[in-house]
Formats: sequence, C-alpha cells, structure tokens
Amino acid sequence: MMNLLTKLLGWIDERFPLTSTWKAHASEYYAPKNFNFWYFFGGLALLVLVIQIVSGIFLTMNYKPDALFAFASVEYIMRDVQLGWILRNIHSTGASMFFIVIYLHMFRGLMYGSYRKPRELLWIIGMIIYLALMGEAFMGYLLPWGQMSFWGAQVIVNLFSSVPFVGHDLAILIRGDFVVSDITLNRFFALHVVAIPLILVLIIVAHLVALHEVGSNNPDGIEIKKNKGPDGHPLDGIPFFPYMVVKDAVAAVAFLIVFVSVVFFAPDMGGYFLEYNNFVPANPMKTPEHIAPVWYFTPYYAILRAVPPLFGSQFPGVVAMGVATVIFFALPWLDRGPVKSIRYRGPIYKGFLAAFVVSFIGLGYLGLMPATELYTWISRVLAVVYFAFFFLMPWYTKIDKCKPEPDRVTSK
Ligand code: HEM
Repeated sequence: MMNLLTKLLGWIDERFPLTSTWKAHASEYYAPKNFNFWYFFGGLALLVLVIQIVSGIFLTMNYKPDALFAFASVEYIMRDVQLGWILRNIHSTGASMFFIVIYLHMFRGLMYGSYRKPRELLWIIGMIIYLALMGEAFMGYLLPWGQMSFWGAQVIVNLFSSVPFVGHDLAILIRGDFVVSDITLNRFFALHVVAIPLILVLIIVAHLVALHEVGSNNPDGIEIKKNKGPDGHPLDGIPFFPYMVVKDAVAAVAFLIVFVSVVFFAPDMGGYFLEYNNFVPANPMKTPEHIAPVWYFTPYYAILRAVPPLFGSQFPGVVAMGVATVIFFALPWLDRGPVKSIRYRGPIYKGFLAAFVVSFIGLGYLGLMPATELYTWISRVLAVVYFAFFFLMPWYTKIDKCKPEPDRVTSK
C-alpha cells in the first residue's frame, strides 16, 4: 500500500509541484518559535472565511433575492428549512466574529510593527482584504430586507451622493435606482454571493504568498532570517507543520467553543450581532427612529457624524470617514521608530497606541448611540485622538526613547 502511495506521489510530483509546495509552505516553512496569543488570529480568520463560505452556500439554496420574498425567505429558513436556523445563526454570528478576529489581527500588527519593512505589501494586501470585507458585510446586510437592512443601505448609499459633481450619478450607479429597491437587492446579492467572495479568496491567497515570501514577524519584532544555523534554517524558527498547525488547532477549538456558544445561546448578542429592528420587514414608507450601522462600522460612523456639515453638505464628514478608514495604508511610512515591537518601544508610542484603542472603542460605542449634542462633542474629541495617532506618528516615533532589541527572540 505504502509503495503504491509513494509511486502515486512520484507520478504526481513529475507533473505537479505537490511535495515541493508542501515543503516550501508547511513542513519546511520556518515560523518564529515565540509566537504568542496574538498570532492565532490570522489562522482563525481563515477558519471564519471557510465557515462563512460553507454556511453561505447552504443559505443561498433557500434564500430569495427578491424584495417581495427576501424577508419571508429568511423567516422560512429560520422556521421551516431543516437546520436552517443553525445555518443562519452561524452566518450572522460569523459576520461579527470575522470583524472581531480581523480587528485583533490588525491590532497585533500595530503592537509588533508587522507593517514595517519588509512587510509593507503584506500589510497593504491586508488592508485591501479589510475594505473588501467591509463591502461584503455591508451588502450582505441588505439581503434579509429588514428595516435596518433597508434604511442602513439607504443612509450609507446616500452618503455617496454628497460627493461633489459625480455624487448623484454615483449613488444611482450603486443602487441601480433612485431609492434602495428590488434592483439594489439583486445587485447586492450578486456582489455578496459571487463577486466579492471570489475577490476575497484571491487576495487572501496573495496575502499568504506575500507572508511566506518575507516570513512572519514575531512579538520581539526582529527578523529570524538573520540568524541561520549550519542547515540554513533560522535558529529561532520551527517548522510550520506540524508544530504551528497543532498550536493553531488548539486556538481553533477554543474559538469554536465561543462561536457555537453565541450561535446557540445568544445569536442576536443583545441586538449587536442581529439588530432588533431587522426582525421587522423593510418599509420604505416608515423610517426607524434610530438608524445605526452594525457595530463593526460604528467607529467610522461616529467620525462621520462628528464632522459638522459644510453649506448643508455632508461631504466633509464623508471625507473624514474615508480618511479614517484608509489611513492605515500609510502606516509603514508614518512609523519612523528604530524598533518594531511594543516590547522595545518607549512610553510615547505606548501612550498613543493606548489612546488610539480608547478612541476606536469609544467611537464605536458612540456610533451606536443617538447623536445628542454631548455625544457629538465626545465623538469630536475622540476623532481628534484617532487622527493624532496617525498624523503625529512620524514625530513621536522618532523622539520616543526605545530600548535596544535583542539579537535573538525571547520567550517571555
Ligand atoms: C480574511 C482576512 C485575513 C486572513 C484570512 C489573514 C490571514 C493571515 C494569516 C494566516 C497570517 C499568518 C498568521 C498570523 O500572523 O496571524 C497573517 C499574517 C498577517 N496579516 Fe493577515 N489575514 C487577513 C486580514 C488581514 C488584514 C485586514 C491585515 C491588515 C490590514 C492583515 C495583516 C497581516 C500582517 C501584517 C501579517 C504578518 C504579521 C506578522 O508576521 O507579525 N491581515 N494573515
């Protein structure tokens, strides 16, 4: 039997680089041995991606992308389709979990300077994934055709109409109509189910190819490739397979326990994962009293609302929101610090990073709340803190008092 398998493998290898690919990317791909908790989230993001694709395929089998039937088809999935409720809960929980995992994954990058040379492109590809993921989530949210689906889409698409000169046409191009309608639902369905997932999978492959080209960073922020043994392998690295795979598997099990607990016991998560207003069918004649996007968009939404309109146009807010989202692209060039990891950074960077986290969470909370005068003012202060983290970075990373980096990784 073994002989047969070896022969088969040999036959394949002569025609396809199976063994060499496996060696290059798994059994002989060396990852830093000091990976900690924060290095679990890339693998977990891959897991959630698979969960979303598989549950999404099964949901599509019973969902109807038609303004007359969409809401009812989701109810049908929840009540009548065998195990439909579980599929739907998995998919809606997966959407929020995706963002939790991705935000932690990105935060790790900020802590350990993972965006710095030579990983700039890896970071940029990651940012493209993040934007694509936002588009995917936004379009998916219209599909249940509830009140929040409808009005959320209406508010966000309307923002595009504030763009000078082309705004009106742009909004019509996105909607396919003068208001959010059946046509919008159809095109969002096509984009959510086919186009964006396809793009996502392609750029995630590119993300991993870029990662394996430069190798992983680690909590010490030093390059393990600089210290190689006589066998040519990094002294501080261990093969990805089996060691990292086993480690990641433990994280996957812990993550799945949390995931299924939400699916079974709190799928709406107190109205954060599934908003209460979305259990009411979309009604274009009745605007809900309070419209807020899902929690993962609210930091940006709060920034949008914090900027006062100019001559009645919301465009300045839209620009601030856009800049707040894409400013992450510039991080590799904003950071001038001599070290990468927070372990060896000085107090100023630590202070700014802590302030940034507080502003991001604070804005996220305020974006969920009604825009009272007090909340708007707090949002303004937090938005300034948010932007200060980025715009002052070239200055404070340069003057910060950093500690010297060690030559070899530490196992703290
Ligand atoms: C579906 C989305 C994503 C998937 C599946 C994914 C997957 C991965 C995986 C498996 C790793 C290696 C394991 C790890 O370091 O955790 C990784 C590393 C990395 N990812 Fe992602 N990623 C995603 C999104 C992002 C985003 C949005 C960013 C940033 C904007 C990003 C930036 C990075 C960086 C900088 C690294 C290297 C980190 C280091 O070595 O310290 N990724 N990613």
